[in-house]
Amino acid sequence: MTDAKIHPVPANIVQRAHITETQYKEMYARSLKDPEAFWGEQAQKFISWIKPWEKVLTGDFKNLNVQWFVNGQLNACYNCIDRHLPKRANQPAIIWEGNDPSESATITYAQLHQQICRFANVLKKHNVKKGDRVSIYMPMVPEVVIAMLACARIGAVHSVVFAGFSPDAIKDRILDADCRIVITANEGLRGNKIIPLKNNVDAALVDCPNVKTVIVVKRTENTVDWNKTRDRWYHEEMTTVSTECPCEPMDAQDPLYILYTSGSTGKPKGILHVTGGYMVYVTMTYRYIFDYHEREIYWCTADVGWVTGHSYIIYGPLSNGATTLIFEGAPNYPTPARYWEIIDKYSVNIFYTSPTAIRALRREGDVWVKSTSRKSLRILGTVGEPINPEVWEWYYQVVGNNQCVVVDTWWQTETGGILISPLPGATPLKGGSASWPFFGIKPAIVDDHGQPVAINTLGKLIITQPWPGILQTIYGNRERFINAYFNEFPGNYFTGDDARCDEHGYFWIVGRNDDVLKVSGHRIGTAEVENAFLQANIVAEAAVVPVPHDIKGESIYAFITLKPTIKANDTLKNELIQKVRDIIGAIATPDYIQWADALPKTRSGKIMRRLLRKIACNDLADLGDTTTLDDPKVVEHLIQGRLLR
Ligand code: WTA
Repeated sequence: MTDAKIHPVPANIVQRAHITETQYKEMYARSLKDPEAFWGEQAQKFISWIKPWEKVLTGDFKNLNVQWFVNGQLNACYNCIDRHLPKRANQPAIIWEGNDPSESATITYAQLHQQICRFANVLKKHNVKKGDRVSIYMPMVPEVVIAMLACARIGAVHSVVFAGFSPDAIKDRILDADCRIVITANEGLRGNKIIPLKNNVDAALVDCPNVKTVIVVKRTENTVDWNKTRDRWYHEEMTTVSTECPCEPMDAQDPLYILYTSGSTGKPKGILHVTGGYMVYVTMTYRYIFDYHEREIYWCTADVGWVTGHSYIIYGPLSNGATTLIFEGAPNYPTPARYWEIIDKYSVNIFYTSPTAIRALRREGDVWVKSTSRKSLRILGTVGEPINPEVWEWYYQVVGNNQCVVVDTWWQTETGGILISPLPGATPLKGGSASWPFFGIKPAIVDDHGQPVAINTLGKLIITQPWPGILQTIYGNRERFINAYFNEFPGNYFTGDDARCDEHGYFWIVGRNDDVLKVSGHRIGTAEVENAFLQANIVAEAAVVPVPHDIKGESIYAFITLKPTIKANDTLKNELIQKVRDIIGAIATPDYIQWADALPKTRSGKIMRRLLRKIACNDLADLGDTTTLDDPKVVEHLIQGRLLR
């Protein structure tokens, strides 16, 4: 494996950076040697506590009883808003850029505080109490931040559902967390599309009898169906309450939110993050990884429906008193220059996006980028999937004009915050590598038996010590929590990713080693898509695998066996694709469906996905061990019918 070129960090960034390479190394060593002392200091420095903790850390990954900041009390909303008011009342907390370039808004910390207090009182008026779960299904508008922080303020647990999910997916998430109230908007706007959010909620709620209240933000002038006993307009409710609302003291172990994400089996898992550890971790990582300085304008293009939106649009930036930009629209609307124009419009200093977005905009040609100045930029971030070295170079050279640091940040919904990333000023950059672990993070790369592999050898990425941002559990399912993350390599957190570590200690994350796909950075379980296919009663069996895609990173390839009496044809194909979109959402749209008379199975009846993956990718040189195959002819047949050649 050849080593990548090392890029020096631009001098202007080194001069201002919070830390140097030597300081990083020293601090990193200390964070592993004495985690309690280290994290105690950080928690003190980064978070305002109502009551100090009695012990920084108890428990371990062997007994799975990890607790951070035991008996400490704090409030996440207080840390994001109230504590900044003396100094920043008139500083913008949120800059909102609408889908249409003519629409925008700025909301100061004082204004945001007032709106959050009001909405917290609206929630209380509708009987939402500490510990209750609140479902949020919203477009990228300031009200989504208000709703989330209002929950945090009163100790309610938000469960944000990405606005691209279907009614079925919303329903599953509402039922799993037993939410009694839903916050939504009448419609969402993205590019040329109108997203029927309220209609989707209506459809989902047919099967959710416990939901008694729906609060609706009026984003467009279009009318929607209205259930008089259940539905309330946000703007009307807001006028009925006061702007006074105290922050609820929360125990460090009290839940802050649930966020559903796909796993390798079954339905999405409700990842539960707790208040203390999470707030310490996102606040600290935000400051060091984005090298945030006072008054800088920060923009993360993620959707709040994903963890990146939670940790690095809302909690991390606001807890640091930053100005966070929220963009409602799409990168190519009205033109592919939109992102770069927004950067110039607001003099954005720190920009965080996904490899998929970068690849898509790179394809449109440099002219869209070069029509803008981007001279305010210092830090460029990427997240969600591996970034190809040539795409990294384009980001660095063309978007960043060789003047910015690119931070390739590796993390997961479960990890709460970034675990592996360069630190501007401290880490020499290698394009395509997430580089070094953050403070307190001790990764290892191991073989199937848990033994460390040699330098530059591919293996499974595990994390061997607890860190404060880690999920506490899977909501309502501790057994699944243990099975998913701690069964494979007992005593260690299993990430599900493959990686290698080079001779300079740089981590190179290759991708998932379980049955989880990353399509345009969206995390999708093969099992979810297969289950969606199986809900079409013409389908006997389904197997889904990823195939590489130039822009999306991966796309979905499905092998479908129809029931005996059904004849395959293109209309059925389209119906099946539609079925998956209806059940999960457009992000799970399969790109390929190959009809399969049968699927390759082991003699014990297990589908051999590894083989299917190779057939789908047209990677036939070495099919690996096929001795356990029940019927080798099945494979021959599938190879003949493969769609990619
Ligand atoms: C992948 C997103 C390579 C990885 C924050 C991980 C990455 C999964 C990177 C988690 C990166 C995330 N380089 N791969 N910089 N960042 N991933 O839960 O496979 O949506 O396990 O969280 O994304 O996806 P999730």
